[in-house]
Amino acid sequence: MKNVVIVGSQWGDEGKGKIVDWLSSEADVVIRFQGGHNAGHTLVIDGVTYKLRLLPSGIVRKNKISVIGNGVVVDPWALLDEIEEIKSKGVDVNENNLILSESATLIMPYHKEMDEIREDEAGDSKIGTTRRGIGPAYEDKVGRRSIRVMDLASEENLDNRLTSALSHHNAIRKGLDKPVCEKNQLKKNLLKIAPKILKYSKQVWKKIDEFKSQKKKILFEGAQGIFLDVDHGTYPFVTSSNTVASSAATGSGCGPNSINYVLGITKAYTTRVGEGPFPTELTDEIGEHLGTVGKEFGTVTSRKRRCGWFDGVLVRQAIKISGIDGIALTKLDVLDKLEEIKMCIGYEIDGNKIDYFPAALNKQLKVKPIYKTFKGWKSSTSEIKEFENLPDNAKIYIKELEDFIEAKISSISTSPERKDTILLIDPFN
Ligand code: GDP
Ligand code: IMO
Ligand code: MG
Repeated sequence: MKNVVIVGSQWGDEGKGKIVDWLSSEADVVIRFQGGHNAGHTLVIDGVTYKLRLLPSGIVRKNKISVIGNGVVVDPWALLDEIEEIKSKGVDVNENNLILSESATLIMPYHKEMDEIREDEAGDSKIGTTRRGIGPAYEDKVGRRSIRVMDLASEENLDNRLTSALSHHNAIRKGLDKPVCEKNQLKKNLLKIAPKILKYSKQVWKKIDEFKSQKKKILFEGAQGIFLDVDHGTYPFVTSSNTVASSAATGSGCGPNSINYVLGITKAYTTRVGEGPFPTELTDEIGEHLGTVGKEFGTVTSRKRRCGWFDGVLVRQAIKISGIDGIALTKLDVLDKLEEIKMCIGYEIDGNKIDYFPAALNKQLKVKPIYKTFKGWKSSTSEIKEFENLPDNAKIYIKELEDFIEAKISSISTSPERKDTILLIDPFN
């Protein structure tokens, strides 16, 4: 039996949702383990589009169990809205197919407000967050003043937790000249939705233990990408969680030995949304072309994504950091019409060549990509179901990419549709 972890290997939006949905035909359980509703995972099934933020992408399939682990920060109102939204599309969500960790940290209205206040006040040095309160909620988790799902079960406990959280937040709010957050009103609002949230609440570590003894296959669905990881990313232009594969264990309650295969989702070019370094960014008409053909607008905030060439150095580094066994190469079709295609195979900094992405922000901003140029294939790759049937120039590009990043290509995606995916190596077997 194999359990598979899916992570983004770039700056997010690599097509994780599509691949999780496609692979979940083989899985019994899909688990989100970090991030929150900053994620936006898109699935397209027979022309119908589903955009998932907090719900695991397995939710759309019948007879699968979806789990939101303790490592996720959960805005309870956003979760209820998303459940209603997906139900209105005919997807069944109930306490049998959705499990929420009782230990997950809740995102409170004051987290979202703090995210917005900070971004607005930072001006040009803003992070470009999704303004969902993700960072402030993780800060409270580590600061030991979070309100967690289980706290909703007892008014007395909730009151105590809110007193502790608000003594911190209201001191800051007063200092910033913002109105204080009123405890009783917030408590009332939380108690109102508590039963609707608590009905999904379980001990996830215990459920995973059961799943393992029942030999169920588990797919762990990462959010964001390795270069948005709070330790390994382009700090401070990162999210506030660890996005690497090993987070799947801590963020759900199982050991690292429960992970058997790490699948990195990798776009055939690069995108980034929000601020921060991006060595292969294209601000010319090719960048515009990638953005238009790839429909590169954020799922969560509708912001235009920055686009650029495939950065092999970056992805190779993600593979080493996250222990990626194989990659799913997505959005190959977006390159279909290009005359020539470039791949970054090294950087130059201060006249020296380097083969890694440096950790310091000033160096990350300074590196200049060294490119290898490939001939385009100038024909459609969508609908192709076998690697052999891809155009020769596409095969050359993919093979070089595979050799350079030092990981096997496990699948290739050539359209947003579930069915347009070429399987090379089954990560579950
Ligand atoms: P995620 O956050 O990694 O799940 O990715 P998003 O859903 O935010 O963004 C990926 C976008 O690309 C979505 O609109 C997908 O429907 C779309 N997509 C995924 N795979 C492919 C592909 O192979 N080709 C094309 N053209 N679009 C794709
Ligand atoms: P998925 O799962 C792309 C980016 C934001 C910002 C930074 C910090 O769909 O790939 P945050 O709100 O997390 O504090 O913002 O991280 N970001 C993402 N970019 N895809 C995502 O998720 C992202 N989630 C956060 O744009 O730069
Ligand atoms: Mg996304």
